[in-house]
Amino acid sequence: MFTKAIVRQPSSNFADGLTSVDLGVPDVDRALGQHRAYCEALVRCGLELIELERDAEFPDSTFVEDTAILTHRCAVVTRPGAASRTGETVSIAAALAPYYDRLCRIEPPGTVDGGDVCQIDEHFLIGISDRTNEDGATQLAEHLAAAGYTSRNVDIRGLDGLLHLKSGISYLGDGRVLVTEALAGEKGIEQYELVRAPDGEEYAANCVLVNGHILFANGFPRTKSMLDELGYQLIDIEMSEFQKMDGGLSCLSLRF
Ligand code: GLY
Repeated sequence: MFTKAIVRQPSSNFADGLTSVDLGVPDVDRALGQHRAYCEALVRCGLELIELERDAEFPDSTFVEDTAILTHRCAVVTRPGAASRTGETVSIAAALAPYYDRLCRIEPPGTVDGGDVCQIDEHFLIGISDRTNEDGATQLAEHLAAAGYTSRNVDIRGLDGLLHLKSGISYLGDGRVLVTEALAGEKGIEQYELVRAPDGEEYAANCVLVNGHILFANGFPRTKSMLDELGYQLIDIEMSEFQKMDGGLSCLSLRF
């Protein structure tokens, strides 16, 4: 069970953040409304929110998930792979310090974005991407191993349309993962029970399992009906403004 989540509202200059998609300029007021609904959903799932100050120094700082890997036994403060995001970890480390005795860090030349790290029970998949390099993945694997977890790398650098590993995969519990076609055949993934997001609904593959609920991006009816049929309790969230900035549901919180 999760009891808390760290969140941070999008800053006034959210639209100046990084993006690789061509979906238009996000509307900050609308993004704030969508973020509010997201936070309300987390509260509905039983979480207490730790709300950090908006930070216009870092336009991508609402995507808090990239700055840390949180487990039951340790926290790892990352070193985000985009230079404009490296400084985001300062306030995150401070926010985590009261809650973790074991707070490790990714050191240069390693880089890790939390969006590249998918926890499946006691095992972690670590995406090697344009943001997470092999040195960072090795450091992270060592920290996780010291805390009793296993991991394996999944190289996503040749896969189109995936900023992060979790842009295309989410753990649904009970050995089942929601995954895009592009990732479904990758070593380390194929052994799970796969629910495949249909072509055109790849964005829906990033969802968040929280205390028996699934936060799910609005607007992907075929994936939604697959999950409905499997009996999941979905909470639909409008994500249009975050999608414009390459952000998914998991990116908007650090749950622990
Ligand atoms: N806009 C999110 C990221 O590129 O990291």
